[in-house]
Amino acid sequence: MAPATIPLPSTDLSVDEVELGNPDTMLRDDIDGIFRLLRTQRPIGFDREFQTAGLEPGPGFWSLTRHRDVARVNSDWETFSNLPAVGIPTYPVRQSIISMDPPVHTKFRLIVNRGFTPRMIGRLKEQVWSHSRDIVDGALARARDAGDPEIDFVEEIGSKLPTMVIAALLGMPPEDHELIYRLTNTFIAPSDPEYGGTLEKMIEADTAMEEYALRLGEDRRGHVTDDLTSIIVNAEVSGPDGAKVHVTDKEFAEFVKLLMIGGNETTRNAIAHGVFLFDRHPDQREKLLSDPERFATMTADEVVRYASPVALMRRTATRDATIGDVPIAEGEKVVMWYRAANFDEEWLDEPYRFDITRAPNDHVGFGAGGPHFCLGASLARLEIGAMLATIAQRIPGLEVTGPPVKMRTLSSHGVKHLPVRLGVGGT
Ligand code: HEM
Repeated sequence: MAPATIPLPSTDLSVDEVELGNPDTMLRDDIDGIFRLLRTQRPIGFDREFQTAGLEPGPGFWSLTRHRDVARVNSDWETFSNLPAVGIPTYPVRQSIISMDPPVHTKFRLIVNRGFTPRMIGRLKEQVWSHSRDIVDGALARARDAGDPEIDFVEEIGSKLPTMVIAALLGMPPEDHELIYRLTNTFIAPSDPEYGGTLEKMIEADTAMEEYALRLGEDRRGHVTDDLTSIIVNAEVSGPDGAKVHVTDKEFAEFVKLLMIGGNETTRNAIAHGVFLFDRHPDQREKLLSDPERFATMTADEVVRYASPVALMRRTATRDATIGDVPIAEGEKVVMWYRAANFDEEWLDEPYRFDITRAPNDHVGFGAGGPHFCLGASLARLEIGAMLATIAQRIPGLEVTGPPVKMRTLSSHGVKHLPVRLGVGGT
C-alpha cells in the first residue's frame, strides 16, 4: 500500500505580517506553515526585534530559513562570527566557548572535548540505559499507587535523565539536581513568565550557576577524580603557539554553565517532543519496538530534526557579504532558523513525514557542520534513544492527554509540560 500523503502546513498570514522577532509567534499553531511560507516567498528576510525581558529591542536581524543558506553561514565563521552572542538579543551575561571564534575557540574546545570522546560516551552507555529503566519504573510505580492519574511527563520522567547524566558527568551530587534544573530553566527563558520572565532573574540564575561552578572547580583542583570537572580544571593543553595553557576559574565556570544549560534543556525537550510524536505516529513507535537497539539512535536524530529543540543560532557579519543575492552589511545580525531549515523541501523529500528510518539524516538540529557543531550530539543521541526506547518498551499504555505547553522563547522549541496518562490502571 502506498504511504498516505502528508498534509502540508499552511498559514493565513502574508509574509509582511510575520513577526519572527516576537516570541509569541513561536507559540502559534501555524508556525510550521509560517516557516514554509517564508522559505518559498522570502527565504532571506529582515525582521524587527521585540523587547524581551526588559531589554531594549536591538536593530533587527536577517532570518535564513533555507537549508543551503544556513549551511553556508554556519561553516563560514570568518564572515559570520559567534561574537558577541549567539542569541538574538545580546544579554549582559558572561559568554562561553559558544560565543568565541577560532583560534581561541579551538583551544577551549579541545579541553572540554576530552569529556566527549567516543570512549567516554561508550563508557556511559550502560549507565544511561539503566538510569532510563529506573526513571520509567519509578514513574510507573508512583502512577500505579496513585490510581493512574494524569501526570506531567516533563516533570515526572522527561527532565530526569538529562539532569542526572550531566550531573554525573560533572560530578555534582544528587541532592543538587533540583537546584541545577531550576537555575537552568530560569536562565534559558527570560521571556517566559513561568520560568522567571525577567532579565534580573536570568542574571541572578547566571550568577548562582557561576558561583556553584566555581565551588565545584575549587574542590577538584588538586583533588583529581574521573569526572569532567577534574579533567577541565586540571587540563593542560598546547595553545595555537605551542605554549601550555590552563583554564582560569572564570573560564572553567563558563564551561560548566554551558554544559549544564546545553546538556539539560535541549535533551529534555527532545525527549518530550519524541513522546508526543510517537503518540501521533504509532506506526513509528512499533518500528522502534521492532528493534530498539538498531533504531534508538536513528529515532533520536529524526526527533531532533522534526522538533529542532534548538530553534536558532545567531551570527554577526564581520564584513560586508552576500547570502544568495542579498547584501548583508558588516555588523548585522544573521539568524539561522534550524527549525525552518530542517523542513526545507528543496533539500529533503517529504520533510513533514516523521520517519525514524530516514537515512542519511543530515539535519541541522545539532548545527550545520561548522566549528561549533554540538559537542554533546553523541551523548544527546544516546540519552534520547535510550529514553524513548525504554518508554516504548515499558509503558505500552502511555497516552498523551493534552497539548504540550510550549516555552515562550525564540531560541528553543521547548516543552514545559506534557500531560500524559501511563495507562497502568488503578489497582
Ligand atoms: C537534543 C539535544 C541537543 C541539541 C538539539 C543541541 C543542539 C546544539 C546546537 C544547535 C549547537 C550549536 C551548533 C552551531 O552553532 O553550529 C550546540 C552546541 C553545543 N552543545 Fe548541544 N545540543 C544538544 C545536547 C547537548 C548536550 C547533551 C550537551 C552536553 C552535555 C551539549 C553541549 C553543547 C556544547 C558544549 C555546545 C557548544 C559547542 C561549541 O561552541 O564549540 N549539547 N548544541
